[in-house]
Amino acid sequence: MGMLDHWQPVLRSRDLGRQPIGVRVADTLIALFRTSTGAVAALSDICPHRRLKLSVGRVVGDRLQCRYHGWTFDAAGCGESPATPKLTACATSYDVREAHGLIWMKSRASDPPFPTITAPGFLPVATLEHTIPAPLELAVDNFNEIEHSGTVHQTFGYDLDRLSEVKVHITATADSVHVANSGPTKRLNRLYHWLLGVRRGDIFHDHWTTRFSPVHSVFDHWWTSPDGSRESMVRWRIYIFFVPQDARTTRIFTLAFAKSRYPVGPGGGLRLARWWLRREIDREVRADVAMLYHMADYDTRIEGLKLSRFDKVLGLNRERIARIYRGHMAVQRTIA
Ligand code: FES
Ligand SMILES: [Fe+2]
Repeated sequence: MGMLDHWQPVLRSRDLGRQPIGVRVADTLIALFRTSTGAVAALSDICPHRRLKLSVGRVVGDRLQCRYHGWTFDAAGCGESPATPKLTACATSYDVREAHGLIWMKSRASDPPFPTITAPGFLPVATLEHTIPAPLELAVDNFNEIEHSGTVHQTFGYDLDRLSEVKVHITATADSVHVANSGPTKRLNRLYHWLLGVRRGDIFHDHWTTRFSPVHSVFDHWWTSPDGSRESMVRWRIYIFFVPQDARTTRIFTLAFAKSRYPVGPGGGLRLARWWLRREIDREVRADVAMLYHMADYDTRIEGLKLSRFDKVLGLNRERIARIYRGHMAVQRTIA
């Protein structure tokens, strides 16, 4: 399988209106547009006539019209020339779906399963998109180790002075990597302590599983008292999908869910606080993006790094990214 053979998100649904939009996925330019019924279509973003980008054209009925000479293309990529009716040409088309507030795409030739997204009893609180100025492997590394949470993050993470107490447990299968972390939470501000029902010295639990078709991690965040008898009032489940734009840039799509134990339930009190929950997630992801910006001038090799016990997951992820997502037969340890 190649990188375009996996179902992966390429745009938030709300960002595609009547105007076509061009996106870059794994170094391939794609034109997305909605037909008159609102259905999404995806074509390679190059007109077969004279190579203008189709995404700068316009939608006419169910067809995308090239802005240069007016050729039109349907959702299957079949093109017609208004000036030479017998001259036809096809643009490459892709399978598309809309789900969970995102537009997903894959090549026509592949048949991978659609990723499972489930959060029973949770309230959807955010659908976010961020662009990271770093290669896919570095982006995945960042979101798959928690040593940086002591310094970079404000809400989800561990007390820097007690990081040595954090337990890390890693298990892997051929196509997944699971990491379970628990240890003393970092100190939250007073409002968050109160809203989340977290006390100083509580244990922060951060468990996640990463899969590779497409590349994504699902995180569960919650807190308990040190003896485990009391749980925080709010629990999070966060999906992050990692989509390489090109060799140097990665886009991440975040689906965040929260569940409360307050009597009003997830649909009540949390709904009122959704703006705050969304802001929290956005701020934490932006903090990661800022770190990655300062690493992006260097290559991505693991060799030569002084890896800690928190970093053992990096090699496991990279082997699976190379084999499953990139479709490399032989594992490449150097991804420059
Ligand atoms: S380049 Fe698209 S119609 Fe000519
Ligand atoms: Fe982070």
